[in-house]
Amino acid sequence: MSFDEAFRAKLAMDAIGFDAGQEAVARELSRLAGELAAQPEGRGGIFARLRRPTPQSAPEGLYIHGEVGRGKTMLMDLFFAEAAVARKRRVHFHAFMQDVHARLHAARKTDQDAIAPVAAALASEATLLCLDETQIADIADAMIVGRLFEALFARGVVLVTTANFPPEELYRNGLNRQLFLPFIALLRQKLAVVALDGSRDYRQGRVKAHETFVSPLGPAADARMEELWQRLTDSAHGEPMAIDILGRRLQVPEAAHACARFTFADLCEAPLGPADFLAIARQFRIVFVERIPALTAAQRNEARRFITLIDALYDAKVKLVASSAQAPEAIYPGGEAGVEFARTASRLREMQSAGWWGKKIVET
Ligand SMILES: Nc1ncnc2c1ncn2[C@@H]1O[C@H](COP(=O)(O)OP(=O)(O)OP(=O)(O)O)[C@@H](O)[C@H]1O
Ligand SMILES: [Mg+2]
Repeated sequence: MSFDEAFRAKLAMDAIGFDAGQEAVARELSRLAGELAAQPEGRGGIFARLRRPTPQSAPEGLYIHGEVGRGKTMLMDLFFAEAAVARKRRVHFHAFMQDVHARLHAARKTDQDAIAPVAAALASEATLLCLDETQIADIADAMIVGRLFEALFARGVVLVTTANFPPEELYRNGLNRQLFLPFIALLRQKLAVVALDGSRDYRQGRVKAHETFVSPLGPAADARMEELWQRLTDSAHGEPMAIDILGRRLQVPEAAHACARFTFADLCEAPLGPADFLAIARQFRIVFVERIPALTAAQRNEARRFITLIDALYDAKVKLVASSAQAPEAIYPGGEAGVEFARTASRLREMQSAGWWGKKIVET
């Protein structure tokens, strides 16, 4: 089946509903599917593997960006499944970069320029690369993607990728960003950039705002958080990632689809500060904070960090999913930061409202 036939079949079966924004992206994917099928390799046959596509003949890839839950991954996966390419690879962007770093590490033992042999190996394994959720938060990634993808494109690799931001907004405010700019220019040169700007978040309809603050703690709360994570990300587990903040690295235990998942201990019992919380608020649209304990008056530092965290998330209109031992007002009843905590409690209430969850998420 071609991509177009598969897409039409899904619509006809009512597996998906009609969406004008998705139609526009599907047209681009159909174009690319046709061009790939017309490539020597796509026609198959006994010599297919020998007839490498040349960079001159390689079709233009696709960069699909848009807000969460619009159907980018759904479209890319359908395209990938049907793509008439012998050697193809579909992988999450972070997993791909982890693989790249591991290969670079091994190659550096023998080669001065590790990128060239690693790119050659990657290109021989897959001529079509579908990378889900391109997101650059890590200086180690930012500093190599330009040369890496230049080498991949030079070997005729076709890239299709999804992202929450247009190329120009990748690695925004990142360290040494000027060294990253050639990658943006390369993406613009080698890929058609399309926005999937439907108004509907197909995932979000699946949660009710008042159910996003789960209390009290216990196995039932943990199970509920698990269920909310799966519903909001369509994935059982996210990928670990790291965000660079002024030269430090902040570990995010699980991230997927612009959602991040932390425990209260990860964020408020560790020596994190406003810069960390702002970076989290900037990077993610939904943040899970699990197992908020009842704080004693003496837990001033934890309370202060929690106040700063909620302020950062609130200001960035980030959606919060939390599990807590107590209702918001009772998390930190006394202590030095008690007065300020009243604002936090009120914000936690507002962040559970349908209005909050319905509000368009603004970028900071
Ligand atoms: N037209 C549609 N009709 C019904 N469900 C849809 C439609 N498009 C997408 N979905 C479903 O909505 C969910 C979100 O889609 P998808 O994961 O592709 O979004 P996304 O744009 O990749 O989001 P993110 O940026 O968070 O990765 C998926 O479960 C998908 O199957
Ligand atoms: Mg996606």
